[in-house]
Amino acid sequence: MITLEHVRLTFNHHAVLHDVSLSVPQGLIYVILGKNGSGKTVLLKTIAGLFPHFAGTIALAGIPLQEYRTLPIEEKMKRNITMAYVFQKGGLFDSMNVFDNVAFGLRRRGENEAIVFEKVREALEWVGLSESEQKLPSQLSGGMQKRVGLARALCLSPSIILYDDPTAGLDPVLADSISDLIVATQEKYKMTSLLVTQDLAVARKTAHQVGLLHNGIIAVDMESQEFFSKSNPYAKQFIDGDSEGPIDSI
Ligand SMILES: Nc1ncnc2c1ncn2[C@@H]1O[C@H](COP(=O)(O)OP(=O)(O)O)[C@@H](O)[C@H]1O
Ligand SMILES: [Mg+2]
Repeated sequence: MITLEHVRLTFNHHAVLHDVSLSVPQGLIYVILGKNGSGKTVLLKTIAGLFPHFAGTIALAGIPLQEYRTLPIEEKMKRNITMAYVFQKGGLFDSMNVFDNVAFGLRRRGENEAIVFEKVREALEWVGLSESEQKLPSQLSGGMQKRVGLARALCLSPSIILYDDPTAGLDPVLADSISDLIVATQEKYKMTSLLVTQDLAVARKTAHQVGLLHNGIIAVDMESQEFFSKSNPYAKQFIDGDSEGPIDSI
């Protein structure tokens, strides 16, 4: 559903992504693990179309990204290939209340207010924030802000969802409840999901397939169970947090 072949991305002659190839199967959760600064956010933003100067191939449901980006939203909806992005910090507008934040993408699409109302209500109910629709983001905890970010993505009924570090900055208990919500969302809506994180717990709970991004390539690509069995030296080092091993520790 999402395929990358030999994707390379440089900024000022410095390659962040050297040669990334991976394939996210339809309806499953692919988790990319990688240490801080390894290029996880850059990779997601590239798929989202924010860095069009990449080399190699990215395709969504077989359609090259360059072509995908030119399709009108109606066409993407008709073909069931809409994509939504869940930003690391929720990506919320400080001056808008929760309802308006969640409604933002739908209104930009030009949906009528009756549909906006219905979809926003449904999404807020799903993430457990029905009571908070009039609140401002500053009145919410970090975990609630992430839920609002997820609701905003979900109300667009995406078939592809990209999660950028959905548990970053949360304590382990809140992080676990977000992991549960991601799994439940996946089971309910069956979208194709790509999630990037450095949080092993969220990966363990949500992933069907795991890729380890290291030095600009996917150094390991395995089914989740196999990855967490630590059969591979990169996987073992990342999971155990060893300073010794194939992953350099500086
Ligand atoms: N717009 C940009 N221009 C230049 N360099 C960037 C840009 N965005 C990210 N980088 C660089 O790419 C590298 C990877 O960053 P990032 O994807 O944010 O890492 P991660 O999300 O894995 O922590 C960093 O060295 C960062 O400085
Ligand atoms: Mg990041």
